[in-house]
Amino acid sequence: MAAAEFVFTPMTESDIDAVGALEEQCFADPWTRTTFRHELLSNQLASYWVARLCLSTGLPAVVAYGGYWLMGDEAHIVNVAVHPDFRRRGLGTLMVTGMVDAARCAGARLVTLEVRMSNRDAQKLYARLGFVEVGERRRYYNDNGEDALLMTLFL
Ligand SMILES: CC(C)(COP(=O)(O)OP(=O)(O)OC[C@H]1O[C@@H](n2cnc3c(N)ncnc32)[C@H](O)[C@@H]1OP(=O)(O)O)[C@@H](O)C(=O)NCCC(=O)NCCS
Repeated sequence: MAAAEFVFTPMTESDIDAVGALEEQCFADPWTRTTFRHELLSNQLASYWVARLCLSTGLPAVVAYGGYWLMGDEAHIVNVAVHPDFRRRGLGTLMVTGMVDAARCAGARLVTLEVRMSNRDAQKLYARLGFVEVGERRRYYNDNGEDALLMTLFL
């Protein structure tokens, strides 16, 4: 299944339940639906996106999501995740490139993110898109005290 069968669109309030469920599947220390609702409706810096599967019948299903905060000319990707059944089909790449393009259009000149030291799969994805390692954040993750790698894409 090619990424062309998915559409990349802004997240809406009606996506929050699906995104919250995906978040719980994908992360050890998931954000709550309340956090997503706050981010979507009240955080002026935030921009959230989903990838929808174009089904021939029924409603399009959310299979990936991501978000960033735009602070001046810096976009910071705060989350990106793909449904476990839809990985290695280019959706992570679609989400990150879609957010990078949206941030660039909104004035970003660099895009940053943190990724767990152990998350080699995600690091590989980011590196393929041009992100470079620029630093570390010690004991960044609350659930297990893991360090984060800081990666930046210079636009
Ligand atoms: C990381 C994640 C978003 C990747 O999504 P994806 O849709 O599988 O990514 P893509 O198909 O676009 O992969 C692009 C490239 O990244 C690398 N990659 C991604 N997943 C990989 C894996 N499981 N093993 C090895 N390389 C991997 C590969 O180089 C891949 O290219 P290839 O398939 O041609 O070899 C997904 O695994 C995920 O949601 N993980 C859980 C949440 C998470 O860790 N988010 C990132 C937080 S910083």
